[in-house]
Amino acid sequence: MGHEKVETNVSLLIILTIIVVSIGGLVEIVPLMFLKDTTKPVEGLKPYTALQLEGRDIYVREGCYLCHSQMIRPFRAETERYGHYSVAGEFVYDHPFQWGSKRTGPDLARIGGRYSDDWHRIHLQNPRLVVPESNMPGFPWLAKNMVDASETPAKLRLMRKLGVPYTDADVAGAEAAVKGKTEMDALVAYLQCLGTDIKTRR
Ligand code: HEC
Repeated sequence: MGHEKVETNVSLLIILTIIVVSIGGLVEIVPLMFLKDTTKPVEGLKPYTALQLEGRDIYVREGCYLCHSQMIRPFRAETERYGHYSVAGEFVYDHPFQWGSKRTGPDLARIGGRYSDDWHRIHLQNPRLVVPESNMPGFPWLAKNMVDASETPAKLRLMRKLGVPYTDADVAGAEAAVKGKTEMDALVAYLQCLGTDIKTRR
């Protein structure tokens, strides 16, 4: 009898469905927030330097994530190409993380150290200069724009509020660390550190 009532009353069905799905969702999601595997930094994980953090903001601003993921899945085809699969503890200091799933270009989770700084500068200026068949857009303005150093300390302080272990000295030195740097310098510094914190086979 109760069953019929639920199946013939759309509003009741919707409400009960929402309740059931919420419980299911919470049971899956809440434990992840307390699991050490997902909340503890991997050994050797370093917070971004002030310059890398600025580079990360430029990565977000320019929409690099629209074409690039930063998450290597644990499949052979991925690990053969990109290196060790990504683990949750690598992203503990990423707010917000840049995992993504759109791969117009290659995954960048372990791009750090794969190319020289000069390669990145030329590639970001005009990708066709180093990869003739590339359809990635160029970002030539990055080499001309300067990083706005006055905002950097506030960015570090915000990250600290979110749990990134920056020291007072890091915050105090942040402005000087990025002063006079171009957005290109910052972005390349960011790219060169990606995925390098855990020792992996390439
Ligand atoms: C419209 C899509 C698109 C956007 C936006 C884009 N890329 Fe790419 N990217 C690609 C494609 C396609 C390739 C592969 C060809 C090449 O190497 O140029 C690539 C390659 C790369 C590579 C070399 C990866 C490797 O393993 O060889 C890096 C590094 C890179 N992109 C960084 C960036 C950064 C940083 C940004 C943002 C400033 C960005 N890309 C924006 C499409 C894109």
